[in-house]
Amino acid sequence: MAKKNNDGYLSAAETRRISRQNRKTTNELEKKRKRKNVPESEYLTTMKDPGNAVEFEDLHTYFFTDVGTVHSVDGISFDVPLGKTVGVVGESGCGKSVTSLSLMQLLQRPQGQIVSGSIRLNLGNGKAYDITKTPEKVMQKLRGNFISMIFQEPMTALNPVFRIGEQINEVIALHDDEGKSDESIKERTIELLEMVGIANSEGVYKMYPHELSGGMRQRVMIAMALACSPKIIIADEPTTALDVTIQAQILDLLRNLKDKINSSIMFITHDLGVIAEMADYVVVMYAGRVVEKGTALEIFAHPSHPYTIGLMASKPVVGKKAEKLYSIPGKVPNPVNMPDYCYFKDRCEMCVSRCSGEYPGMIKLSDTHYVSCYRYYDEKEGK
Ligand SMILES: Nc1ncnc2c1ncn2[C@@H]1O[C@H](COP(=O)(O)OP(=O)(O)OP(=O)(O)O)[C@@H](O)[C@H]1O
Ligand code: SF4
Ligand SMILES: [Mg+2]
Repeated sequence: MAKKNNDGYLSAAETRRISRQNRKTTNELEKKRKRKNVPESEYLTTMKDPGNAVEFEDLHTYFFTDVGTVHSVDGISFDVPLGKTVGVVGESGCGKSVTSLSLMQLLQRPQGQIVSGSIRLNLGNGKAYDITKTPEKVMQKLRGNFISMIFQEPMTALNPVFRIGEQINEVIALHDDEGKSDESIKERTIELLEMVGIANSEGVYKMYPHELSGGMRQRVMIAMALACSPKIIIADEPTTALDVTIQAQILDLLRNLKDKINSSIMFITHDLGVIAEMADYVVVMYAGRVVEKGTALEIFAHPSHPYTIGLMASKPVVGKKAEKLYSIPGKVPNPVNMPDYCYFKDRCEMCVSRCSGEYPGMIKLSDTHYVSCYRYYDEKEGK
């Protein structure tokens, strides 16, 4: 752990020591990652359940920064079943985007690294790859064709100096093995723009990102993500920056498109209303860990982790009068210096005597509903 001086700041010597240590660790990981001609057998794997599109197992993704190691994703496990939508909720900074970037292998390297665990990706016909070991060359073929991502901020994800049409054309051209003609690529781009509900598709084709409204940019991002009919779509807060009417339209659009191409969706948001509308399964994250997971019905009807209960209590309910909405007291622990007990303990209003023990493991409440909390240990053990 980083040593701080009397003012609470890191000394120059300490910062240098951390940087040296980081360089050593990331160089080792990068060396492994940059190996050439990695045989397929090294990243070939089998799904635990062939009915899943993606399986995260004990994934740890860290950022090695000058102030210490940020444990952004700290041992998460959950599945995304084929053809289903999994909603990932949790407050800002809990590791939702880092989880999806780990699946895309788009972490900011060298400081961002998957240090352990696996992400199994179902390629169909009994074949699966472990993304954490898949070389970059193979990933380039999987991205777009197999997994694709609608980013949190369309203005930063789109290139400001290229026209919309050129940017979508590039995606289609890059991922098309047959080598289509320029004409047919343009036709497909226009078709995609129309599919996502852009009326003036020929006009928008020639525009730059700054000439579009926020809702239109988000639609363009969706068109790009769907260009190659991917099997898995990661939607990272696709509607957060939009007003509610456009939000509803985008959600409808995603649902319809999902049914059309029969994809699985990993839907990241901190809006429980959106989750209720979209998700079949829900994963609740807190400080880099999964604290509860289950079907949407289980999570909404029987929220079990105190954090999920707090989240439910803090959402407005139509027809119910409240002076002030509930807010969960306290704040998330510092990700560089996580406690060795339950990460939610300092904010928890339902503590039991065991809570000062080590971080609680997952308790099974039903075949699909799991929670990581000591309150259910006693129940399960009949004490
Ligand atoms: N490039 C980076 N360098 C250092 N730390 C990072 C980097 N990217 C993310 N982190 C850290 O990882 C943690 C998780 O970040 P992440 O972006 O996954 O949060 P999030 O759950 O998506 O939040 P939000 O809802 O605000 O989008 C945060 O503590 C963040 O500071
Ligand atoms: S383990 Fe204890 S402190 Fe942690 S959430 Fe459950 S009741 Fe609260
Ligand atoms: Mg995010």
